[in-house]
Amino acid sequence: MSLSLFRSVRRVAVRRSAFAAALCAILLAQKPAPPSVEEKLPGLPPVQPVPFSHKAHAPLGVKCRDCHAIREPGFEAGIPGEAVCMGCHIAIRKESPSIQKLAGFAKSKTRVPWARIYAVPDYVWFSHGVHVEEAKVDCAVCHGAVAARDAMFKEKPTNMASCMACHAERGASNGCDSCHSTR
Ligand code: HEC
Ligand code: HEC
Ligand code: HEC
Ligand code: HEC
Ligand code: HEC
Repeated sequence: MSLSLFRSVRRVAVRRSAFAAALCAILLAQKPAPPSVEEKLPGLPPVQPVPFSHKAHAPLGVKCRDCHAIREPGFEAGIPGEAVCMGCHIAIRKESPSIQKLAGFAKSKTRVPWARIYAVPDYVWFSHGVHVEEAKVDCAVCHGAVAARDAMFKEKPTNMASCMACHAERGASNGCDSCHSTR
């Protein structure tokens, strides 16, 4: 997605109230913005409903973006639908209990309730399209050596200081309004 489209989508969006409330609370308390939340990294891998392994699938030649398609307007990378998995697992390892569980979700057209690992709060603007397509930042910079991981865990930060450090280094905007729309 183009940066200008991203900016206009951001302007009209409505996710700003929580952030405005947070800022007001801070101003009323007459304190400067708190330092970004410290994250304990690496995080522990959450228990997943199906034991999907990026490492086991990496040698098959499926690209990250074949499973995580960044669709317009580009905010999310997304988690693949069960039909993508069943393209292979209709035949491969179909006798495995995990694959039978996966097939059950696919058959009942229910999303596998994957535990989320990377997330920013609603009052933060983040776009995969801007970072992957415009800024050409590799997935591994923000998510680590995913293809070498059996179970996913949080190994890279998503706190404010970490965003701002790269923005400073790469000459991207660090105005509060870039990541928090107050308009
Ligand atoms: C065969 C499909 C497939 C491929 C290929 C794939 N992934 Fe995934 N990815 C998944 C599934 C399913 C999950 C959810 C389960 C989990 O977290 O392990 C996931 C989870 C993730 C997450 C964590 C999402 C969250 O909850 O925050 C990241 C980050 C990620 N993948 C990045 C990558 C990268 C980078 C590559 C390429 C090196 C890649 N993936 C290749 C299917 C895939
Ligand atoms: C391109 C084909 C392909 C796709 C697409 C694919 N897989 Fe697989 N999957 C495999 C192969 C091959 C293996 C066996 C890998 C091994 O053991 O080294 C496997 C193994 C697994 C296993 C371990 C099964 C067991 O008990 O032995 C799970 C669980 C699994 N896949 C889940 C998924 C999920 C969930 C998706 C969709 C996000 C998915 N797979 C997409 C080919 C695929
Ligand atoms: C500049 C850092 C950065 C880059 C580069 C990046 N991501 Fe992310 N990723 C994030 C952040 C931050 C989140 C949390 C986003 C949110 O909560 O809205 C995230 C979330 C995700 C998720 C969870 C689901 C979603 O869409 O929010 C997946 C899957 C994922 N990323 C995969 C990828 C893949 C695949 C690539 C490379 C094609 C990639 N990411 C590149 C920072 C990045
Ligand atoms: C590894 C470097 C890197 C990291 C980490 C990173 N960014 Fe960025 N970001 C960039 C670059 C470079 C651009 C400029 C893209 C362009 O103009 O082509 C950008 C652009 C943006 C924009 C659009 C700016 C505008 O004025 O429209 C937003 C919003 C943004 N990033 C939010 C975030 C957030 C939120 C995080 C942390 C969760 C983050 N970024 C982490 C490199 C990074
Ligand atoms: C490059 C993106 C980026 C920029 C620029 C940015 N922030 Fe943030 N901000 C974030 C992210 C990401 C979080 C969420 C942090 C978390 O999840 O720990 C956040 C959280 C916050 C919070 C909530 C409290 C906290 O620290 O977690 C406040 C308040 C805040 N930002 C104020 C500001 C102000 C004031 C500015 C301008 C000086 C600013 N931000 C600029 C990305 C940014």
